[in-house]
Amino acid sequence: MDVYEAVTSRRAVRGFTDRPIPKEVLERVLSAAAWSPSGSNLQPWHAYVLTGAPLAELKKRAGERVAAGDPWDEQEYEMYPPALKSPYHERRSAFGKQRYGALGISSEDWEARQRAAAANWDCFGAPAALFCYIDRDMGPPQWADVGMYLQTVMLLLRAEGLHSCTQMAWAKYHKTVAEILSPPDELILFCGMSIGFEDVTVSHARLGRAPLDETVRFVEG
Ligand SMILES: Cc1cc2nc3c(=O)[nH]c(=O)nc-3n(C[C@H](O)[C@H](O)[C@H](O)COP(=O)(O)O)c2cc1C
Repeated sequence: MDVYEAVTSRRAVRGFTDRPIPKEVLERVLSAAAWSPSGSNLQPWHAYVLTGAPLAELKKRAGERVAAGDPWDEQEYEMYPPALKSPYHERRSAFGKQRYGALGISSEDWEARQRAAAANWDCFGAPAALFCYIDRDMGPPQWADVGMYLQTVMLLLRAEGLHSCTQMAWAKYHKTVAEILSPPDELILFCGMSIGFEDVTVSHARLGRAPLDETVRFVEG
């Protein structure tokens, strides 16, 4: 698979089979992803990979919290600006419409949306998940480094025939994740990432992108 194919075939997959992933595949992906760039080579990512019984236990505990209507943990970082201005607001609305529309859920049906979103905390059925932490001392450049690392992981997963879904949703239950992973206090959970083989029976939307001239300016001589 070439890089273009890896980039264009990656999407947020929200339905996985339970087919296990050989550990050597995950090790190969994460060893290669370690070559991601970072300012001054800080490599500020801290990844934990969960499979098997510990992942099942995490899904169970998170699922219990969701079922109990347990409020989310105090946020350790702001996921979005409090008021999204244009054009981000419109893009976010379009995303919701497409993501939930593919499941036959209308924009007004908030409860059905919440039920569908709850699948986040079952990792959409995935047999593996990566949890990515960053030191709380780090600033925007290092958070960007972590983003590059995660994208590298996702592209390498494509090369292995695997799919993924990055999930800030897990940060909403970061205390439950910490119960299983026991990370040092100085780390903040940025996100989880479900990893597995796609369940092709799950309907999904292929999210579009803004036209090139909305996000890129060529300044030519
Ligand atoms: C940092 C980050 C956090 C995300 N969090 C979630 C999440 O919690 N749940 C989810 O279903 N998708 C999540 N996504 C997936 C995005 O919704 C998805 O990437 C975006 O809508 C574009 O769709 P595509 O990746 O399928 O092209 C996240 C993506 C990123 C990069």
